Amino acid sequence: MSKVTVVGAGNVGATAADCIARLEITNEVVLVDIKENFAEGKALDQWETSPIHLFDTRVTGSTNDYTKTAGSDVVVITSGLPRKPGMSRDDLIQVNAGIVKSVTEQVVKYSPDAIIIVVSNPLDVMTYQAYLTAGFPSHRVMGMAGILDTARYRAFLASELNISPKDIQAVLMGGHGDTMVPLPRYTTVGGIPVTEMIDDDKLNAIVDRTKKGGGEIVKLLGTSAWYAPGAAAAQMVEAILKDSKRIFPVCAWLTGEYGLTDMYLGVPVKLGRNGIEEIIELQLNEEEKAMLNESAVAVREVLDVLKTL
Ligand code: NAI
Ligand code: 2OP
Repeated sequence: MSKVTVVGAGNVGATAADCIARLEITNEVVLVDIKENFAEGKALDQWETSPIHLFDTRVTGSTNDYTKTAGSDVVVITSGLPRKPGMSRDDLIQVNAGIVKSVTEQVVKYSPDAIIIVVSNPLDVMTYQAYLTAGFPSHRVMGMAGILDTARYRAFLASELNISPKDIQAVLMGGHGDTMVPLPRYTTVGGIPVTEMIDDDKLNAIVDRTKKGGGEIVKLLGTSAWYAPGAAAAQMVEAILKDSKRIFPVCAWLTGEYGLTDMYLGVPVKLGRNGIEEIIELQLNEEEKAMLNESAVAVREVLDVLKTL
């Protein structure tokens, strides 16, 4: 028997819950939101798809009642505001850090053995906030961004090369922002180095588009993405519950890996039933190291804002 809670029944949370239910990897998904009846409504609608999509994972909703989440194996935290007109970035950090903190307190109270996956933005810093609040060992608190960002990179490459996205493997590191570091040297197409399939200018343009991939969707929709983020969070839940030992880029607590310490940042990890079971240290070249360090500096700036709150 296993149970997954998704906090925040908005665009990303509801999509993640839907993906998790359809994957049939857990007996129960509980959606929680602070908005009265919102999670209940989304959960009921999703449960009513079960005879069509043919899954038997029970999907239920709750308005802020964490007793319903008790004993969850994995908790995905998506609650948080998107930036609104008139709000500074610091205001957003303050609001979302408050939400992530209060949600994490409730999660920990009722699911002391859970693995927490944070999705709320700014991702690397909200994951740090959840880690501080939860007091869990770091292998049980992580953030989702790298699977989304590599999915964008792989999708753009698939379109450009007119090949199946299934055959594209890639690594991307760093923070979830414009300084993220897609790594062409670790990108393959059916086992072939991507650099043998595409010229530098086109590849650089795809790397650049990937870095701004979140903003591209915001410009089109007026709000941030949900299909790919929800699916990415579900894929992490799947790797954990199935103990698959999959290798994914995940926002992880660093204690000296890549020369970085006391911060959360995107790195390749092995994901299994214990959460982050290993952080994989790649032999980055000088240019890649410099880009990763630049990304770490950008994340630390946001972290410093959090620490002053
Ligand atoms: P949304 O506005 O559709 O949903 C957020 C939900 O959180 C709302 O339903 C709201 O009522 C709920 N909420 C607010 N405070 C709460 C609390 N204290 N307890 C429970 N629920 C609460 O937003 P969306 O699009 O789902 O995005 C959610 C977060 O995920 C945002 O911070 C967004 O920036 C972030 N995001 C992160 C991505 C990543 O790659 N890490 C990708 C996409 C979005
Ligand atoms: C995204 O990358 C904004 O984090 C959000 O779509």
